[in-house]
Amino acid sequence: MTDWDGAKYAEIATLQHDVGRRFVAELTPPAGARVVDAGCGEGFVTRLIAELPPVAAVVGFDPSPLMIARAREGRHPGVDFVEGDVTTFVADDPFDLAVSLNALHWVPDSVAALTRLHDAVRPGAGVVCQFVPEGERPSIEDVAFGVATGVSTGVGTGAEGRDAGGFAAFFEGFEPPHVHRTRGEWRDIAGAAGLEVDDLTERDLAWDFGSADAFRAWCALGFTAYTDRLPAERRDEFLARVTDAYGRVTGSDHVLRFLQLRLGAHRPR
Ligand SMILES: C[S@@+](CC[C@H](N)C(=O)[O-])C[C@H]1O[C@@H](n2cnc3c(N)ncnc32)[C@H](O)[C@@H]1O
Repeated sequence: MTDWDGAKYAEIATLQHDVGRRFVAELTPPAGARVVDAGCGEGFVTRLIAELPPVAAVVGFDPSPLMIARAREGRHPGVDFVEGDVTTFVADDPFDLAVSLNALHWVPDSVAALTRLHDAVRPGAGVVCQFVPEGERPSIEDVAFGVATGVSTGVGTGAEGRDAGGFAAFFEGFEPPHVHRTRGEWRDIAGAAGLEVDDLTERDLAWDFGSADAFRAWCALGFTAYTDRLPAERRDEFLARVTDAYGRVTGSDHVLRFLQLRLGAHRPR
């Protein structure tokens, strides 16, 4: 598990915060709800959920100590943050709603993750997760993996050529840190976890960072699983190659295009 830099994330995550506001605006928790937020990061979304009028309390958890440390700095009534992993999380008391935003595509064992969220809510309660699914266009994560290893994980990511940047020696045995699955796969996984699926809405979104430098700074934040393996003097070069290669996918060096799949489900009574 990579430890995300909570303080930098809070500074630079304008995109995640915008997505977070929209995600929370569509939640419909029951009156007096206790909510759990899996993979809460630095807690921005968790605090927004706590501000929804029907919500009584929210627990956010995340395995990243730096993220949880940052989350705890933003004190907020009715909000608690704990370190925890979605594949092993156990609730003391069942929650009335479980949510997770842009965390599950970083968790390889999707069945374990959704099973834990199913078990964390009372019968009849909802589980709403949003994340990046598999799509036809290579994602920025696919491109990063291709640049690092010379192995393509998405359609067309071989455009860079096999290990053109000479990074593969640092990535022997490296597995992609992201898991992108299709809508159909997520439907099956939710079923295997005991959930009944109510909604699987996919959206194709774009975010303009305004400059190639700002886009690279954002990539630096999310790609520490890669940059941590590289000598410090080669990290900027790696990120530049990723954004260049990605520019060949989108036609821009400062626009991110990304899919979001909203999986709405409930635990059967
Ligand atoms: C892109 S951040 C999203 C944070 C927050 N939900 C948001 O929308 O701003 C992804 C988060 O997933 C967390 N994560 C990674 N693996 C996880 C796991 N096994 N269980 C729970 N969270 C995990 C990371 O630590 C990171 O904080």
